[in-house]
Amino acid sequence: MSTAEASTWHNPLRDKRDKRMPRIAGPCAVVIFGVTGDLARKKLMPAIYDLANRGLLPPSFALVGFARRDWADEDFGQVVYDAVKQHARTPFRQEVWDRLAEGFRFVQGAFDDDEAFGHLAETLHTLDVERGTNGNHAFYLSIPPKAFPQVLEQLSRSGLAAKDGDSWSRVVIEKPFGHDLSSAEELNGLVNSVFPESSVFRIDHYLGKETVQNILALRFANEMFEPIWNAHYVDHVQITMAEDIGLGGRGGYYDGVGAARDVIQNHLIQLLALTAMEEPVSFSPAELQAEKIKVLAASRLAEPLDQTTSRGQYAAGWQGGEKVVGLLDEEGFSQTSTTETFAAITVDVDTRRWAGVPFYLRTGKRLGRRVTEIALVFKRAPHLPFDATMTEELGKNALVIRVQPDEGITLRFGSKVPGNAMEVRDVSMDFSYGSAFAEESPEAYERLILDVLLGEPSLFPVNAEVELSWKILDPALEYWASHGTPDSYESGTWGPESAFEMLRRVGREWRRP
Ligand code: BG6
Repeated sequence: MSTAEASTWHNPLRDKRDKRMPRIAGPCAVVIFGVTGDLARKKLMPAIYDLANRGLLPPSFALVGFARRDWADEDFGQVVYDAVKQHARTPFRQEVWDRLAEGFRFVQGAFDDDEAFGHLAETLHTLDVERGTNGNHAFYLSIPPKAFPQVLEQLSRSGLAAKDGDSWSRVVIEKPFGHDLSSAEELNGLVNSVFPESSVFRIDHYLGKETVQNILALRFANEMFEPIWNAHYVDHVQITMAEDIGLGGRGGYYDGVGAARDVIQNHLIQLLALTAMEEPVSFSPAELQAEKIKVLAASRLAEPLDQTTSRGQYAAGWQGGEKVVGLLDEEGFSQTSTTETFAAITVDVDTRRWAGVPFYLRTGKRLGRRVTEIALVFKRAPHLPFDATMTEELGKNALVIRVQPDEGITLRFGSKVPGNAMEVRDVSMDFSYGSAFAEESPEAYERLILDVLLGEPSLFPVNAEVELSWKILDPALEYWASHGTPDSYESGTWGPESAFEMLRRVGREWRRP
């Protein structure tokens, strides 16, 4: 970040003015590559409308779609309209829509079409003058990674990657950031040869979730959690991201990628970093990143990998009362696909705070229900002055951060069951966002797109974090590649038997969220 940028920069995590004086983006244009894809339709276009509806986009805002379709600006406008009508979070308001739609442009072309990029540059320059976007451009690459090099090269060649005077040019990259450490290094090298790191915004949409940002508030704004947030009290940590949906139709992206690369490498390892890191000196992006990088550098897979990891692929089963097919019968997957739809790993964090405390990370499709949570499971009290029969139903204390759905925090602890006997059983104390706050949480993409436009980097993983995450995961990927195929699990259950065995072997069990 230049000194000029730094002096006008407001830290989103420290910025108390959000409500009194909302942070509004300055004049700019957003260009979406991959405008016909699912992400653009379901998340990006609705988020842009929601930002406009919340008054967070300037009048001088433009949205440019780039794709091969033979569309006029109006056709593109219709696509955005349909996406907004179907997926926007906030109510539709005609006047907001009309103002926003005036800034829609479509550029037709393929990624190898020099002329189309020339046309894109002209379109942006015209918008700069006519709509007042002032040369500020964000390029959102919502495209398959194999297309990154070509688009980056074109942005560089057409001069669009370069800043002009006070204006800015930023690139937004969707995952996957490579498929292992060496490909990530190559990709980062390529990106940084066109854009300086301060202009690169890598999206990990989990970091845009309110509940994920709240991990830092919970830990560092309170006195009562941090003293027990360590190996003296914590037995182990479970980070779960479970989905009930299957993968029909997503084969093109998912086949050959799998659950570990799709979710563990990014979302779950970021959750681990926020849970395990030390208190940052401040919430400046550099200080935050420094702490995340430190804890990731201290993290590694526990071994032996045949006992500390598990992977599975869903077979047919029942979900929500309906019969569903297995992965191999889903549209877009071959009958011989060995792609895992469930993955679990054990990570050791080699620091004084966490020595001996395993972090279990698991994710999967077609599991029992959709839930993401981080559970700190505490050790048992060193001494229980009760007869064993009195505490038969007492489990381990747990602090559970409910990332989604039903966002909030649960504390599990033992309580006396009413009655004459001293019988102790687990109970829950709940904090729920829904009942504690009147404000509805914005969608992760609203927050992240706004931060890109404001040039606020705190919620975007930097190069080093991405590479360290691959370094942690790579040994499991290599091990799996040379050791058989994923275990099968029935749709609607909580994963393959090997995942249960992974914890049972060490005297623990997965929480049933
Ligand atoms: C994406 C993954 O990053 O996250 C998808 O590629 C997954 O496979 C999605 O379904 C889940 O996001 P969320 O916000 O619904 O938990």
